[in-house]
Formats: sequence, C-alpha cells, structure tokens
Amino acid sequence: MSKITVGTFLEKKAAKEKITMLTAYDYSTAKLLDKAGVDSLLVGDSLGMTMLGYEDTLSVTLEDMIHHAKAVKRAATHAMVVCDMPFMSYHISVEDAVRNAGRIIKETGSQAVKLEGGAAVKDKIEAIVAAQIPVMGHIGLTPQSVNAFGGFKVQGKSEAQAKQLIEDAKMLEAAGCFSIVLECIPEKLATVISESIQIPTIGIGAGAGCDGQVLVIQDMLGMYDNFTPKFVKDYASLNEHIVEAVKVYCEEVRSGAFPELKHTFKIDEEILKKLY
Ligand code: KIV
Repeated sequence: MSKITVGTFLEKKAAKEKITMLTAYDYSTAKLLDKAGVDSLLVGDSLGMTMLGYEDTLSVTLEDMIHHAKAVKRAATHAMVVCDMPFMSYHISVEDAVRNAGRIIKETGSQAVKLEGGAAVKDKIEAIVAAQIPVMGHIGLTPQSVNAFGGFKVQGKSEAQAKQLIEDAKMLEAAGCFSIVLECIPEKLATVISESIQIPTIGIGAGAGCDGQVLVIQDMLGMYDNFTPKFVKDYASLNEHIVEAVKVYCEEVRSGAFPELKHTFKIDEEILKKLY
C-alpha cells in the first residue's frame, strides 16, 4: 500500500473517493488500524478523555500529544499521521503557534497538525502553513470551546451559525488548510460546506455528505462507555470481551489453573539440586 499524504486527500476528493480516518493514541492499536488500511490516524486530544481519564480535552498538554504521537507514528507504515494541537498551544500568539506546530512535526514525525476554530485562528494557520506544515482545520463542535459553548452541543442549527460555518470553511481553505473536520453539525449543512470548497471535509457527527469520516477508536470499538454520542456506530463491543477475559484470568490465577506447564521455563535438574 502506498503512503497517504496530503496530496492523496485532495486526489480522493477530486475522484469522489471517501477518506477514512480514526483516532489512535498508542503503538499497538495504531499498528492494527494501519494494517486494516485506514487512510489516516488522528492523534486527537480526545486522548485526554479516552487515555488519561479527564472530563474534557482542556487539560491535555503539548508534551502529552508529543508522547502519544511518537508511539502512533512508529506504527504507521501507510496511514498519514495527523496530530492535534492541544488547548492553549496556538492561542497566545502566531509565534507560539508556529513553534508548537514545529515541535510536533520535528519530535513526532507526524505529517500534519490539526487545530480548532475559525476566524480567530486564521493568522496562526497562515503562519503554520507558511512554515511548510500542513494544517487540518476543525469547525462545528470544537471540544476545546466546551466552556464557551456551555456543553457539548450540536452547532450550526440557526441561520446565522450555519452561514458563519460556511464562511469559516471558505476562510480555512483560503488560509491554506488541506482538509477540515466538521464536528456535530446538521447533515445538510455539512453537505453544503463540502460542496462549497475544494479541500476535503472529514465528518464526525456531520452525516454522509462529507468527503470522509473520522471516529474515536474507543467509541467505535466499544471500549469507552462513559458517554457514547448519537453519531457513533458500534462496530465491536470490546468492553464485554475484555471484562470477560479478565474475569476468567483472575479465576484461573486464584484456582491455580493458570499458568500451565506449557507457559513455564525449565531448568536443568542438576542445577536445581544445588539450589536446595
Ligand atoms: O480529538 C479528537 O479525537 C478529534 C476528533 C473528534 C475529530 O478532534
């Protein structure tokens, strides 16, 4: 399989081929997703919830992102690795945003960064793109704005909000983004946005009119049950399998059924005698 690049994303949109993306935060999971042929691995700051147990993504640091993205990148032979810029790593100044995007690329080997927002981040995106770092935009329900939104709510339902999102998407394209995540917006609005721009849209809770889809891997495999959004489809229920397997392991250790002879190593009898 050939390596996916930002160019492949644009080619897929032009060819009307859907783009597949999933989040990944660790080496062994990323290796499985890459083997399955997913186009892109997103080291999302959702790792704050799925990996670190926070209530939202706001506490995630640049160091957290770099640590996880390095592991994912080691596993990716085919998929393009995109790493989220965490809250406050691109908000303070253009200089800070470029420095932090540069650290992600240099230290992790990711091929692109993703950051949230519309007009407020235009200058940061332009500067990061000018530094030759591909940027994926992210609009709609942007989880780093959870406090400003007053919760995780569907965005773009009013005429004003919907028009703003269309403007934001065009602005992100003009600022140089190679792709845009549309999160939790009405399906028909996402379709209008996708048809209004030349770069691909990657939807999560934004319906089938997007140019690609992304899901949080723990959600689609049934491994994170704190909260399951409406837009998630259960492709597996690993929770149940993991809990069942661990129960059997505990029972077998307690009863002595595990380990068996085949799980152990031998020592020469003559040496053994000398140990008593
Ligand atoms: O952090 C994340 O997982 C994301 C996806 C929800 C798009 O940004």
